[in-house]
Amino acid sequence: MSEIVFDKVSAGYDRKIVFENLSFTLEKHDFMVIFGPNGVGKTTLAKTILGIISPISGSTYVLGCTLHGVCPHKKMIGYVPQVYNLDPDFPATLFDIVLTGCYPLLKPTEKVHQIYIEQAYRNLKTVGLIEFKDVPFSKLSSGQQKRGLLARALMGPPKILLLDEPTAGVDLVSEVQVNLAIETAFRDFNIPVIAITHDINPYLSIATKVIIMGYGKHYAGRIDEILREEILSEIYRTKVDVLEKEGKRYINIRDAHYG
Ligand SMILES: Nc1ncnc2c1ncn2[C@@H]1O[C@H](COP(=O)(O)OP(=O)(O)OP(=O)(O)O)[C@@H](O)[C@H]1O
Ligand SMILES: [Mg+2]
Repeated sequence: MSEIVFDKVSAGYDRKIVFENLSFTLEKHDFMVIFGPNGVGKTTLAKTILGIISPISGSTYVLGCTLHGVCPHKKMIGYVPQVYNLDPDFPATLFDIVLTGCYPLLKPTEKVHQIYIEQAYRNLKTVGLIEFKDVPFSKLSSGQQKRGLLARALMGPPKILLLDEPTAGVDLVSEVQVNLAIETAFRDFNIPVIAITHDINPYLSIATKVIIMGYGKHYAGRIDEILREEILSEIYRTKVDVLEKEGKRYINIRDAHYG
């Protein structure tokens, strides 16, 4: 049974449809990358998967839920949002923030169980931050905060990891570290990953599926079927090359211009 099945799904806000007739499946072993220009609906798709917004039409299935009515599946998805704002004066350590990942799983009067404390330690090791556990979250670098949020999303542990631009705003070395943490989580936790990104290149050796979203258009499927120059050039409205170096594929925008 697939973890996610979207069949001809349309979604958006009020009367504004953001994407239409999107079909894809996510299996247990999949690492799926979603990318495309700004404003095409990547975060809207993430919100639809989470059940934050309801699909307008089409049939949806996520971890046994149809996304109509009350769906408990949201608690089973480890989510790193595109934007996470924490008051810099809020006195929370990295460990405190990671532990909050289990709060949605607790009953109203339930205390944090030892099992979650152990899980928080393990998750911090997975993302390579255990020695920073007592550092105030707001004092960490952007890249460390991103890895901290990944450790938080891995509380549960979840059945799907959903990451919305997990490396946005971090430097090149931090980006490599965040992506290493994501790959380690994918392998160690044995759960499917959905990563929304503007740069698919770092994921090309691990990704199995892709959704390329454009304005009023999208392509979804296996990487080898979908990651093609004609599709990318159409979506980005400029010449995009799919190149190979030392057996690894990557994409390259050759000729950017002001539209
Ligand atoms: N809460 C909202 N209410 C109404 N419209 C919204 C809302 N959130 C987003 N939109 C609109 O929906 C469209 C898709 O937005 P979305 O944030 O999903 O794009 P995105 O692909 O994630 O963009 P980015 O790459 O900039 O993160 C945009 O036109 C945006 O203005
Ligand atoms: Mg977005």
